[in-house]
This record gives sequence, structure tokens and C-alpha cells, in this order.
Amino acid sequence: MATTASQEAFLQAFHAEHPSVTAEVFGRGRALDGRSSYEILCDRVAGSRRVLDLGCGDGLLLECLAREDDRQLAGVDLSAESLALARRRPALSGARLEQGRAQELPFADDSFDACAAHLALMLMGEIEQVAAEVARVLSPGGVLACVMGGGAVGGEAYARFLGLLRSTVTNLPAAQRIPALGDGRTRSRDGLDSVLGPAGFSAVDWETIHLDLSGRVGQVWTAVSGMYDLGPLDRATVERLREAFFAEVMDMTTPGGRVPCAVAMHVATARLR
Ligand SMILES: C[S@@+](CC[C@H](N)C(=O)[O-])C[C@H]1O[C@@H](n2cnc3c(N)ncnc32)[C@H](O)[C@@H]1O
Repeated sequence: MATTASQEAFLQAFHAEHPSVTAEVFGRGRALDGRSSYEILCDRVAGSRRVLDLGCGDGLLLECLAREDDRQLAGVDLSAESLALARRRPALSGARLEQGRAQELPFADDSFDACAAHLALMLMGEIEQVAAEVARVLSPGGVLACVMGGGAVGGEAYARFLGLLRSTVTNLPAAQRIPALGDGRTRSRDGLDSVLGPAGFSAVDWETIHLDLSGRVGQVWTAVSGMYDLGPLDRATVERLREAFFAEVMDMTTPGGRVPCAVAMHVATARLR
């Protein structure tokens, strides 16, 4: 079992090399209604004036949140490199962007009306401590809204990629495998309730959406290969995986050259009592 420290060391090293990979991949994904998962999360905290982005990465969600007037925005992340990119966004010139851990938030009690986390809460260890910290910095009645990865949607390119990845990784030495990340309870409604309830949150509102990442095969490869699991793989292994993926999705490519690819995402919201 990986320690929280080793999980965080892995995440920091990965994002030092790939500081904007999540926003690049998922920023172009669209749900059935045409919104990105970032926009969907923004809508969950509409009307909240003081908003914290937990695991803000390169600041794409904060930029979306900044479209609402008169907001006080803050972001916290482990990665100095991702935060450096967030600081370059003109819309975030007034935001407080801090390098730090969600388990020890560098903010005073009652600082926020909402806390949002896009593809970040599910990666965090010591999750009870994270829940307690979020409850501490939120005002009573404040909202926690999160998007969590929900895996592949059957029959599409991402599902096939995961099959290939699994058989590749099984044969690799431990040094080329990533540590287990986060706490699995964040990936189900009941599990998240069991974490958030004791910290003072109401029952979780839970919705599963499908995000369309279809495109030309190269675009879809860029999307699926942005996963953490590829971080420790050597160049030759990644190249073999890429070739196998291109061959694997040939039969599902449309005559127009489009490869269908979708991922499931869970959108969860809870209110501090
Ligand atoms: C998959 S990325 C998502 C980045 C951004 N929210 C987005 O969706 O574009 C996960 C981010 O969470 C951050 N993170 C993970 N665990 C964290 C923790 N315990 N405290 C603060 N940030 C954390 C990582 O450094 C990384 O930037």
C-alpha cells in the first residue's frame, strides 16, 4: 500500500513534466449538452462569491469561475509547475494561488462559500483530513462540488486503451508502475457520503455523465496517453502501446476518420450543514 507521501511525490514529479495535461485533455471534452466538465462544475457553484479550487492545476477551472463577476478566487495545488501556468492566466491576476496540500489548507476558517475540485479529490490520500479541512474553510451552508473520473464507457476507444494498458503494465517491473492513488471511496456516492458525512456535510448529490473525447486517432491517443499510468513507462514501451492502440481502434474508425472515445465522470455536490 503506497503512503500518502509517496503518492504525492509521484503526482508532483508527474505534473512537473506535464503541468497542463489534464486541462489540455479534458478541456476539449464535451458532455451531451455541449458543456465541458469544467463548465458543469462551475454551474454547480453558481452564485457562490468566495470559491476555492482544490487541486487547481494550471487554473482552467478557476478561469471558468472568473467569468462570474465579483468573485474572490483561490486555488491550491501540490504542483509548483502547474501553479506557475495558472499565474500566467490574466483572468486569475487577482486570485490567491498557493502551493500546498489539501490536507493542510493554507486558509483561515470560514474563508469560502464553495469549494470545487475537478479530477483532484479522487487522487488525495488521508481523505478524512481533506474533508475536515474543506469543512473548516467553508462557511456553514457552503458547497463542495467535485468531478471524479468514472472510467471507460463500454465499446469505445478508451475502454480498448485500458485493455492494452492493463496487459502492458502486468508484465512490467514495479519501478514502471504507478502507486495506487487516492481513496477509492471518493469514486462512489456511498463511499463519498461515508467520508463527507462525519465532516458535517449533507448527503451527496451524485450524477454520472459521459464526456465525449472523440476525434482523429492522434487526438484520441493524446487524450488517453495523458494518463498517470504512462508516466513511468520508458519511451519504447509507450511507442509499442501507441502502435497497438492505433491498430486496435482501426475497426471502429468512421469513414470520416473519427475514433469514438468517451469517459464517464461523476459529478458530486454536498452542502456543509
Ligand atoms: C488530474 S490533475 C487536475 C488538475 C485540474 N483540477 C484540472 O482538472 O485541470 C490533479 C491535480 O490535483 C493536485 N493534487 C493532488 N493531490 C493533492 C493534494 N493532496 N493537495 C493539493 N493538490 C493535490 C495535483 O497536483 C494535480 O494538479
